[in-house]
Amino acid sequence: MASTVARPSWAPGTAVPGIRARAVAALSRRWMARVAADPAALRATLGAYRDGEDNGEAAVFEQVGAHLPARYVRMCARHAADEARHAALFAAAVDALGGAAPTPARLDPLARLDAAAGGLLATAGDSREALGRVFLLLMAFERRLAERLPLIADGFAAARPELSALFRTVARDEARHIRYCTAVSQALIPDPDRWATLRDEAVAVEARAFAPYLFDFLNHILDIGLRQMPWWERLGFRLMARLGRALGRPLPVGGAP
Ligand SMILES: [Fe+2]
Ligand SMILES: [Fe+2]
Repeated sequence: MASTVARPSWAPGTAVPGIRARAVAALSRRWMARVAADPAALRATLGAYRDGEDNGEAAVFEQVGAHLPARYVRMCARHAADEARHAALFAAAVDALGGAAPTPARLDPLARLDAAAGGLLATAGDSREALGRVFLLLMAFERRLAERLPLIADGFAAARPELSALFRTVARDEARHIRYCTAVSQALIPDPDRWATLRDEAVAVEARAFAPYLFDFLNHILDIGLRQMPWWERLGFRLMARLGRALGRPLPVGGAP
């Protein structure tokens, strides 16, 4: 029998449905090219990555040793070290440009995601399955990053090749983190049907949380920079983000982590 198994909708690279992918790529390139040319917007965007990478996942990783063998603990240690390295790389990039104010707390991507999930992170110590659900939420977050960071790298390629290379390096790590989160969550939730149900829940929560977060982030950047952007383009990006928020299906452009 021929194999007709469809690519699962949660797989890396499918956070944006195919029909919208080209529009997202074109608009992302335009947005990031504008950001690259605007010091205030560039510093704020990189500052958001610096702060977003330094987001307290480590406390979750530390709980894995209570439930799983050492090889999973090592995986989590490597994951935590990657995130700390990312934060340092973005901090150095921001400092080289003159520094950036701390990103407003309301734009912490993981906190937004956790709030949408009903405060799942605080339940991580409750049980094996609770910890597994936290890792599925992290997987959904990594999946979004792995898809978006290469678009941001593309947008920076012409004007800021050094930043483009940085985003590409981080994107490769985030793609690896999807595999770590998948392995850890499957070990914590060994029943494949239960795991698939909870995975789909986590992916749906992430998609729901992302549209209003993106709306707020894009408006934050427009409020502090991009003054040289033509008025109709500013308006267009604001309207697009508003429409995405209203529909709960954003066109993911705007440079947010
Ligand atoms: Fe990261
Ligand atoms: Fe990551």
